[in-house]
Amino acid sequence: MKIRSAQESDKYTVLEFCKDTFQWGDYIADVWDKWKSKGGLYVLEENGLVVGVYHIVSFEKEAWIEGMRVHPQYRKKGFGTDMLAHAESVIPNKVIRLIIESENHPSIRLAESVGYKIEEKWMLYSMVPAKQESSAIMATPSFQLDGIIESSTYANSWKWLPLDAEEIKNLIEQNRVIISIKDGKTLAAGIWNQSNEFPHVFQFVFVSRTNEGMSDILKYVQNKAHDLNSERIQVFIQEKISPEVNFLDKKSLFYLMKKELH
Ligand SMILES: CC(C)(COP(=O)(O)OP(=O)(O)OC[C@H]1O[C@@H](n2cnc3c(N)ncnc32)[C@H](O)[C@@H]1OP(=O)(O)O)[C@@H](O)C(=O)NCCC(=O)NCCS
Repeated sequence: MKIRSAQESDKYTVLEFCKDTFQWGDYIADVWDKWKSKGGLYVLEENGLVVGVYHIVSFEKEAWIEGMRVHPQYRKKGFGTDMLAHAESVIPNKVIRLIIESENHPSIRLAESVGYKIEEKWMLYSMVPAKQESSAIMATPSFQLDGIIESSTYANSWKWLPLDAEEIKNLIEQNRVIISIKDGKTLAAGIWNQSNEFPHVFQFVFVSRTNEGMSDILKYVQNKAHDLNSERIQVFIQEKISPEVNFLDKKSLFYLMKKELH
């Protein structure tokens, strides 16, 4: 077994065994070129044959693991474990996070077996872009959001990052924070992004909400996604604050998993 940086010549082999990973297929073919050019894309070879792949993105204090796949005929031989150990060797002394769909038991067990713990549970909903009227607004630096944020992370193109006061400030400066206000009170807030890796997808993450503020913001989101010609909208809400509403199409529950390396 050997883990090495991915080469362009590995693409065909990897995409062949990543065609039908999930019921709906897989997304590795859509991101291979971007991940390869950014670096952090590794493959696992067994007897000269490429049978595993994963991508790691390293930020200042934390790292993100994504796209881990083992060829279906080579599973349950420890290669997933080998790739997670390799990830720890390339980014020592950091916090590592990854996200796993709650029904993906092999992957959850694998992560737990090497010390990852569930940090947060996130619901994914879907919506379609549409022209809408809304009184929600883009937050400006004068808005005080301290004390209302109900999440310590947020999703940025399927990568979850820590959300502290400094990060909120940066996001506000980048016009990424949408809020709903009534009588001077913030009813809901969240962060939007248009993914680099999936450019047709508009994503929105609630970090604080009431039902009233939420529907106001969702109309704003539909409108903005419409203006940006997005094809789909993905809305993330932590399970602990997710509402019982029928205007959002519930997709699935994801576990954000975390391991702290010492
Ligand atoms: C998840 C995946 C990468 C695991 O790779 P793997 O090489 O089979 O994993 P390992 O052999 O290292 O397994 C390590 C542990 O994980 C757990 N595990 C792995 N596969 C499992 C399965 N099918 N059922 C139950 N537990 C499983 C076990 O605890 C296992 O330890 P054990 O073999 O001592 O019982 C592989 O199943 C895969 O490619 N799945 C499809 C893609 C995917 O779901 N990727 C992750 C998305 S977040």
